Amino acid sequence: MLEQLEHLRQEAEAALAHASTTEATKAWHSEYLGRKGRLTAILRNLASLSPEERPQVGRVANEVKVALEQALEERQAALAQTELSAARSRQLVDMTLPGRPQTIGKLHPTTVTLREIYAIFTAMGFQIFDSPEVETDEYNFQLLNMPPGHPARDMWDTFYTTAPDQLLRTHTSPGQIHAMRAYAPNPVRVILPGKCYRYEQVTARSESMFYQVEGLAIGKRITFSDLKGVLTNFADQMYGEGRQMRFRKSYFPFTEPSVELDIECMLCGGKGCPICKYTGWLEILGAGMVHPIVLQNGGYDPTEFSGFAFGMGPERIALVKYGIDDIRYFYANDVRFLERVG
Ligand code: FA5
Repeated sequence: MLEQLEHLRQEAEAALAHASTTEATKAWHSEYLGRKGRLTAILRNLASLSPEERPQVGRVANEVKVALEQALEERQAALAQTELSAARSRQLVDMTLPGRPQTIGKLHPTTVTLREIYAIFTAMGFQIFDSPEVETDEYNFQLLNMPPGHPARDMWDTFYTTAPDQLLRTHTSPGQIHAMRAYAPNPVRVILPGKCYRYEQVTARSESMFYQVEGLAIGKRITFSDLKGVLTNFADQMYGEGRQMRFRKSYFPFTEPSVELDIECMLCGGKGCPICKYTGWLEILGAGMVHPIVLQNGGYDPTEFSGFAFGMGPERIALVKYGIDDIRYFYANDVRFLERVG
C-alpha cells in the first residue's frame, strides 16, 4: 500500500504539471483528492490492514494528501497570474477606461443653516447646550409658566406619547429650564438646537417636525437692549447688513415683554406671496425677557437676575436666505432639492 501511495503521488504530480488551465486543475482535484478520487479509494482499504501496519500507512497517506493539496494551491495561483496576463494582452481589461464617477454628497440646507447659526452665536460667547427631544408636561409647559389648563398651551399642538406624562417637545424652550438648573446661580449664555414636533397642519411654511435654536442669556443687569443688539447682529450676519427687519410685539407666557422678529421676504421682495402670507414679512423667531416665574423655576432670584431668551426656526431662516418656496422640500428626501440649494 505504501508503494501504491508513492506511485499515486508521482502520477498526480506529473498530471498536475500538465494541467494548463484553472478548469483542468479542478478536474485534477476530483480525480485525485475528491470524495470519489483515487486517494480516498486507497484510504478506504486501510481497514483491511493489520493493526501494526495501519498507523504508518495512515501517516504516509496524510503526507501525500497535504503535499498534493499544497501543489494544487501553487499551481492554481500560477495559472491565475498567467490567465490574467493573457487577458490583459488580449485587451479584455482596458486599463485606460475612465473610472465610474462617484456621487459626492452635500450638506443638507438645515445643517448648513445650523452651522451658520452656531458660528454667529459662538462668536458672541454663547455655548451649545443639548436638551432632550422627549419631554415631560412639566418641562414643556408647567415650568414655563403654563400650568394645566392654561389657554396659551393651545399655541403648541402637541404629540403626546402612550407613556404617561411624556410628550415630544413642541419647542426648545424647556431646554431653558435644563440649562438654568445646570448653571444656577452662575450667569448663562447658551444656545440650544434640536428637533421639535407639532401636531399641526403641514403647509408651505409649517412642518410637523422642524428644528429650533433656542437662545438664553441670564445674568445681572441684562436688558431688552441686549436682546435687540444680539438679534440685530445675528440678522445682519445671517442675511447681510441692510436687509429690512422688524421687531413686532407678541405674547409668550414665559417671557415678558415678548416680541417676534420678522425679516423682509426675499422671495417676493416685500410685495407679498404665499410664503409670507401676503404680508411681505417672514417671522423667523420669538423672543423676550425671561419671565420672573421662569427665572425662579430655573433656580435664579428674579430680584437679582434678569435675562433674555429667543427661539428661532432654521428652516424658516433658510427659506428666506435661499429663496426656497416650500418648507416641505426639506424632509421630502428628493436629492434634486439638495443639489439645488446650499
Ligand atoms: C416658540 O416656539 C417659542 N418657544 C419661541 C420663544 C423662545 C419665545 C424663547 C420666547 C422666548 P413659535 O411657536 O413662534 O415660538 O416658534 C418659534 C419659531 O419656530 C418660529 O418663528 C418659526 O421660525 C419656527 N417654527 C414654528 N413652528 C414651525 C413649524 N411648524 N414649521 C417650521 N418652523 C416653525
